[in-house]
This record gives sequence, structure tokens and C-alpha cells, in this order.
Amino acid sequence: MDALFAALLGYLVGSIPFGLLLTKAAGMGDVRNIGSGNIGATNVLRTGNKGLAAATLLLDLVKGFLPVFIAGHLWNDVAMAFAAGAAVIGHCFPIWLGFKGGKGVATNAGVAFGLGWPIGLVYAFIWLSVLAIFRISSLAGMSAVVAAAAAAPLLGYPQFFPVLAAIAVVVLYLHRENIARLTKGEEPKVGSKKG
Ligand code: G3P
Repeated sequence: MDALFAALLGYLVGSIPFGLLLTKAAGMGDVRNIGSGNIGATNVLRTGNKGLAAATLLLDLVKGFLPVFIAGHLWNDVAMAFAAGAAVIGHCFPIWLGFKGGKGVATNAGVAFGLGWPIGLVYAFIWLSVLAIFRISSLAGMSAVVAAAAAAPLLGYPQFFPVLAAIAVVVLYLHRENIARLTKGEEPKVGSKKG
């Protein structure tokens, strides 16, 4: 029962589409009509508004962290794992937007910190390092998502490996168009005109 409540909490919080709400509130229209059509911070950045992109990143991260943190305080590791998976699923498949949401990278960063701060640190380190080196948001995000799953058992959190691995599969699947562009060398860099 705890796991069910945790999943519901995770999904409800995770499905709040901050990127869309913030850009609409700022009078910038529907972020799904620009760039990649994604509702995440990378695409919000393509509006040219860095503040809105930073706010989207932060809020998407917090909505991943909070349900996991709450589940950890109220319940147990199983509930935390359910809250984690549901938060990312909520972000990627929100009922409010016809199940068409974001790609899960920022929300999963919050999830990683919620599950265990060492996992979050690995996530942040890989995300920022790959971004600094290649300046490609999707590549950095996918690397962090996979690294967090791989690192969890090594860092003493084997109980969270299944949910992080499942999240990684979903996130990679949602990046299939990015992966196709990466293999062709056509994925835009952050800050470039296209990206
Ligand atoms: O977090 C989303 C990012 O990995 C890719 O976003 O808009 O370039 O497809 P986008």
C-alpha cells in the first residue's frame, strides 16, 4: 500500500509540466511549438530566456527529489523506488498533456539526489562534465542517467539499481531522435543558433 501511495505521489508531482507553465505564464506561447518540441529546460532555453530555462531546470529537479524524499521519511526503500520511477514517468507521460511530456533528465537528477546523495553527486558530475566537454545537452543527460544506474550498486545502493536502470531505458528511448542526430553529427550544441 505504501508503494502505491508513493507511486501516486511521485506521478502527481512529476507530471507538473513546469517548462510549459512557465513559458505560458511569461507570455512566450507554447514551448512545444519551438525547437525540439520538448517541455524541458534545454528547449525552454531555445526561447532565449535563460532565467526561465534555469527555473524550469530547478523546478523539474525539485519535483523529482521531493516525492522520493517524502517516501523515504514516511515509508521505506521500496516506496522510495516507486516514488522515483513514478516521478520520472509523470514527467515523461503527464496525463494533463495527453501523456506527451519531457525526456526525464532533470527530474531524474532530483530523483538521484533523493535516493542517495552520492548517486546525485555522480549524476551531477557526469552531467556537467559531459556538458562542459561536448556542449550537447542530450548527450550529457543520457550519460548521467546511465552513470547513475551503473553507480548505484557500487555506491552501496543496490536496492535502487532496478528502478534507475528502468528509468535509463525509458529516458534513452525518449531520446531516440537525439541519438539518431548524434550518430549523424547533427545534434545541436547548447548556445548554438539551432540548439
Ligand atoms: O533533457 C532534455 C535533453 O536531454 C534533450 O532536449 O530539447 O534537445 O531534445 P532536446
